[in-house]
Amino acid sequence: MTTQPDQYAVMGNPIAHSQSPRIHALFAAQTGQNLEYRAILVAPGGFGAAARAFRTAGGRGLNVTVPFKQDAWVFADLLSVRAERAGAANTLIFEPTGVLGDNTDGSGLVRDLTVNHGCPLGGKRVLLLGAGGAARGVLQPLLGEKPAQLVVANRTANKALELALRFSDLGPVSGCGFAELAGRRFDLIVNATAAGLENAVPPLPEGVLAPDGWCYDLMYGSEPTAFVRWGREHGAAHSLDGLGMLVEQAAESFHLWRGVWPETKPVIAALWGG
Ligand code: ATR
Repeated sequence: MTTQPDQYAVMGNPIAHSQSPRIHALFAAQTGQNLEYRAILVAPGGFGAAARAFRTAGGRGLNVTVPFKQDAWVFADLLSVRAERAGAANTLIFEPTGVLGDNTDGSGLVRDLTVNHGCPLGGKRVLLLGAGGAARGVLQPLLGEKPAQLVVANRTANKALELALRFSDLGPVSGCGFAELAGRRFDLIVNATAAGLENAVPPLPEGVLAPDGWCYDLMYGSEPTAFVRWGREHGAAHSLDGLGMLVEQAAESFHLWRGVWPETKPVIAALWGG
């Protein structure tokens, strides 16, 4: 008798171009896990009902993407410490006793940088651009790597100051506007703004990237993103997009659901191949 595959999905809006079904299908094939994973488009305001219906139909877990990560955070009965801090959940685990919420985005970023690319963050001067949900989701794992300093810079400076204050018990984090970056220098710049959606880059002063510094864009695309191009034009030793982070956050979700870690390198390579 063949057993029915366990059901998982990613919910978001838009969702048609999500790579997550492909990533999880590759993970499942690689580890021999009997599961199905699909993408579900959810209407604005419809996350709770959609998640409840998926669970009632026997679903075992969800990934959650823009714009529902905060709704998922509210939906969970119990949150991991990092999800609690992030104010957002990208992974839900449906247990018989309740719904667990976690956030694997930030640790995915850190693993991609440190393990896949060999960029240790300890003692480094790190600049995080943006103070929205994406920035908030990666702050705790970045601070966990013990950078020498972490500066959050945002178009609306007050939001950066507020965000830095929220995480100030975890390490040397401060907030400012872009203009205040003049004369300062960073070993790693992480772009967590939505400027790339308009093919733009935040206005950064000359010299803000240290010679041989690194650039990392949380966004990714089939073409180099605006920020990846900015890094290349400003002498970055490495200017990376968020494809590796996408696969790493997915791997940790897979581990939370299935108890096994898939290998990410062949999956990143397959996605690179198109
Ligand atoms: P996300 O969940 O992707 O972080 P968000 O919470 O709406 O989305 O936050 C978007 C972030 O991108 C904010 O930091 C925003 O800056 P403001 O707080 O000043 O609005 C930033 N952002 C959006 N468009 C930008 C642009 N063209 N230049 C610089 N920053 C931009």
